[in-house]
Amino acid sequence: MEKNIVWHSHTISREEREKIKNQKGVTLWFTGLSGSGKSTIANEVEYQLNKKGFHTYLLDGDNVRHGLNNDLGFSESNRKENIRRISEVSKLFVDAGLITLTAFISPFREDRERAKEIIGDFIEIFIDTPFEECSKRDPKGLYKKAMNGEIKNFTGLDSPYEEPLSPDIHIQTTQSDIEESANIVVSYLKEKGFINV
Ligand code: ADX
Repeated sequence: MEKNIVWHSHTISREEREKIKNQKGVTLWFTGLSGSGKSTIANEVEYQLNKKGFHTYLLDGDNVRHGLNNDLGFSESNRKENIRRISEVSKLFVDAGLITLTAFISPFREDRERAKEIIGDFIEIFIDTPFEECSKRDPKGLYKKAMNGEIKNFTGLDSPYEEPLSPDIHIQTTQSDIEESANIVVSYLKEKGFINV
C-alpha cells in the first residue's frame, strides 16, 4: 500500500517576520567622504542595537568590496555599479526584516536616490566631516598617497562628492563624538517606530 504523504508549506510575509523580530526592516544609508567616520559610527549603532536584542547586518567595504564587488574599482561607472549591487542586497535584507546598515562613500546623488527607490525603507545619514579634517585624520594613509598622485580618482580630490541636500540625519563629527552620533541614529529609529524599546 502506498502512503499518502501530505506536504504542508508555510509562507511567511515580511510583516510576520517583522512582528517576530519586534522591529521593522530598514536601511540606514551612511554617506560621506573616506575617513569621515561612516563605518565607525555604523559599527557603534549596530552594537547598541544588538545589545537591545535587535537584528542587524552591516555592509561595508570590508565585506562587500573584497567579495561580491571585488571586480570593481573606483571609476565613476564602477562606483555606480558598486552602489547598485549594494542597494539590491540591502533590499533583500530589509525584506528579511533586518535593520541594514551600509557604509560606503556613495558620492553621487543620483545613485543614492536610486538606492532609495530600490530599497524603499531608506534613511539617508550624512556623516559630515570636512575634507580638511578627513585628510588630517587620514586613518588609512590614503589622502597622503592621493595628494602625492599615487592614487587616482580619489573622492574629494580628483573625483567628486555630491553632498546630500536634505539628509534624514545630518551628523557633524567635529561636533559630536562616536557615542553621541550613534545615539542620534538610534533615537531616530525609535521616534519613527522602526524599533520599540
Ligand atoms: S564608493 O565611492 O564606491 O561608494 P566605497 O565606499 O565602496 O566607495 O570605497 C571607499 C573606500 O575605498 C575608501 O574609504 C578607501 O579606503 C578606499 N579607496 C581606494 N581608492 C579610492 C579612491 N580612488 N577614492 C575613494 N576611496 C578609495
